[in-house]
Amino acid sequence: MKKQKLEEMNKKIVDDYKEHEIVLGDGSHDSTIVLIGEAPGAKEVEAKKPFVGQAGKYLEEFLEILGLDRKELYITNTVKFRPTRKSSKTGGEINRPPSKKEIEDFKEYLFDEIDTIKPKVIVTLGNVPLKTITKDEDAKIGDFHGNSSKVTINDSEYNLFPLYHPAAVIYRRELKEVYHKDLKILKDFLNRS
Ligand code: URA
Repeated sequence: MKKQKLEEMNKKIVDDYKEHEIVLGDGSHDSTIVLIGEAPGAKEVEAKKPFVGQAGKYLEEFLEILGLDRKELYITNTVKFRPTRKSSKTGGEINRPPSKKEIEDFKEYLFDEIDTIKPKVIVTLGNVPLKTITKDEDAKIGDFHGNSSKVTINDSEYNLFPLYHPAAVIYRRELKEVYHKDLKILKDFLNRS
C-alpha cells in the first residue's frame, strides 16, 4: 500500500520536474522516524540518494550515536532537486539555498510523503525543513533544536524533533557539542515514544 502510493507520487514528481535530476526519499516505508533535509547536493544527484556526501558522513556519525542504521529510517529532502547558481569565480555550478517558491512547490509532496509513511517522529535538519513543517516562516533552528513539539500535517498529529543541519557542524565546530547533547535528548525521546 505505502510502497504503491509512494511509487505513484514519485512518478508524478519525476514527470512534473522533467528538466531536473530528482533525488527521491530513501529508506524504510515503515520507519517510525522520517528525517528531512534541505535539498540534495552534487553527490546526492550523482548517487540519486539523499545524504551521501559530506553532510551524509556527519549524519551517519550521528545515527551511530542514536544506535540507528540509516536503512531503518526514511530520509528525504524538502526540495527534491539540487538548487544551483553559477559561481562568479569559476563559472561552474555551485549550490545555493532553495528559493521560497521551490520550497512552496514541493511542500504538498513532502506533506503527502509524511502522510503516507505516518512516522511517530519527524526529525528536521536545519532551518528549511523546520520552517516548512511548522508552517512558520519565523521559526529558527536556534530556538527549536533539541526540543520536541507537536505538528499537524494533513490532519494527522506528529512529534517534531528539530536538529541542526549536519552540514552546520562542518562550518561551526562549536555546534558539535550542542549536536551531541540534542542527540542524547532525541535518543531518550525515541526510547519513550
Ligand atoms: N544536504 C541536504 O540537506 N540534503 C542532502 O541530501 C544532502 C545534503
